[in-house]
Amino acid sequence: MNETTNSHIVVQRFAYLEPASVAEAIQMLQEHGPRAKVLAGGTDLIVQMKMERSAPAAVISLGKIAGLDRIAIRDGHLSLGARATIRAMELNERIQAHFPALTDACVSFSTTQVQTMGTVGGNLGNGSPAADTAPALIALGAHVEITGPEGKRRLPLEDFFTGPGKTALQRSEIITAVILPKPAEGAGSSFLKISRVAADIAKASAAVCLVRDGDRVTGARLAFGSVGPTPMRAPKAERALLGQPFSEDVVTQAARIASEEILPISDVRSTAAYRREAVRAMVYDALHVAWRRAGLGDGEPWLQEADEAAEPARSPARCIGADEKQRIELKVNGKKCAVWAAPNDLLLNVLRDQLQLTGTKYGCGIGECSACTVQLDGAPVLACLVLAVAAAGHEILTVEGLQKPDGELDPLQEAFIDHAAYQCGFCTPGVLMTAKALLVENPAPTEDDVRHYMRGNICRCTGYVSIVRAVMSCAEEKETLNAGGI
Ligand SMILES: Cc1cc2nc3c(=O)[nH]c(=O)nc-3n(C[C@H](O)[C@H](O)[C@H](O)COP(=O)(O)OP(=O)(O)OC[C@H]3O[C@@H](n4cnc5c(N)ncnc54)[C@H](O)[C@@H]3O)c2cc1C
Ligand code: FES
Ligand code: FES
Repeated sequence: MNETTNSHIVVQRFAYLEPASVAEAIQMLQEHGPRAKVLAGGTDLIVQMKMERSAPAAVISLGKIAGLDRIAIRDGHLSLGARATIRAMELNERIQAHFPALTDACVSFSTTQVQTMGTVGGNLGNGSPAADTAPALIALGAHVEITGPEGKRRLPLEDFFTGPGKTALQRSEIITAVILPKPAEGAGSSFLKISRVAADIAKASAAVCLVRDGDRVTGARLAFGSVGPTPMRAPKAERALLGQPFSEDVVTQAARIASEEILPISDVRSTAAYRREAVRAMVYDALHVAWRRAGLGDGEPWLQEADEAAEPARSPARCIGADEKQRIELKVNGKKCAVWAAPNDLLLNVLRDQLQLTGTKYGCGIGECSACTVQLDGAPVLACLVLAVAAAGHEILTVEGLQKPDGELDPLQEAFIDHAAYQCGFCTPGVLMTAKALLVENPAPTEDDVRHYMRGNICRCTGYVSIVRAVMSCAEEKETLNAGGI
């Protein structure tokens, strides 16, 4: 961020386009040329724009393209639509059963809010060597489906990354899906990551997919993140495993070979030497986990009824010029509100400045503190990274909406008072909105569930013990009421 950067706003102006189909998106990319950028969840692109590292003349949102977020079987393979979110993949039971390395990668991914907004297409489209889904998907043999003016093409995912921040995408092409082949019988996979704090990108990550036949390894794919210019495989280490009985010697040797095969650098997150040691230890552990899991998915159903679901309805395309404002309708806290918004207005600023809903706070402005958490269609998102025009037509709940019209506080707010779960109160609206979403998703969470779900909400003065206690007590109170049929 340069000295004058203000993460409160997106300074530059850009046209906002919302195609209704992939074909329209490609056409818009062709019309607007190299200065157009595709927007999915915005957890990377909007941060880059705020930091003035990216200045697109047009932002083409994939948000309204029907079906692009679908996770379903297509032609015998599992297809992850490019707009499938990290959270949707984490919770998907078929992925849990057949591709546990991908579940591991999604679980370890940043915060609940970033998982809810971030997509698989955006994670790969970034071209980052640290993208968490990349090593898991490469180990699992994924292909990326690319659509452009010439139609569709597929590439093995390991060939998609061409350098730091660089991919094989040609002009006017987008990722439309990631394709996972059905795992072989006896397959097992795992992913491990080391980062500075839980909600951070990887210092190093490792993914492993093994195929087990009795006591022998008959298939092995190893892939790594943050240890080279691109996510990468380790073919020598894979060869050291193939055809061998699974033993301490073989595993230790494969881990050592992998640690020599990677190409780490020293940077702000770690040193090259640490990364080599981390990879050695992670490969050793990941191989054991994958071996234990081998074959567990064999009996699980591959096809499910949901695969036959009809295509959802299309909405019409929308375009807003860079110097235009459009009157958009938002449903905030159950009420319809019309506001004027330009493409570069953020939901956070519209809520605070136009609707005077100042409960939602501006902390970091770049996705790292979660003080700005609101619910969008029931899911916790970061209002500092949502374009207001993209929120049109969605239901938004802010902390003001927790209270009943007669002023009665929500039971969660009462629990926060009872347990002294706030001091200055700055983080509290974001904490409440996240906790509220958790309790709807999981009415009886364990303490670990609460801590994991709320790991992105930073509090600098209360401390987390009383916050967690308040959330747990609210959940327990609900349980007691339900048990008593009240
Ligand atoms: C606080 C914070 C923590 C983070 N932690 C992690 C982490 O732990 N692990 C991790 O891997 N990442 C992390 N990230 C990075 C980011 O959240 C992920 O890369 C996310 O998956 C990006 O998805 P998105 O949909 O938000 O992408 P966007 O921001 O919408 O787009 C990202 C890039 O991909 C392009 N793009 C998007 N969709 C497509 C498509 N379908 N076809 C072609 N190009 C496309 C965009 O043009 C843009 O260049 C973090 C980000 C933040 C702000
Ligand atoms: S202000 Fe949005 S995450 Fe910090
Ligand atoms: S109560 Fe002060 S930052 Fe959390």
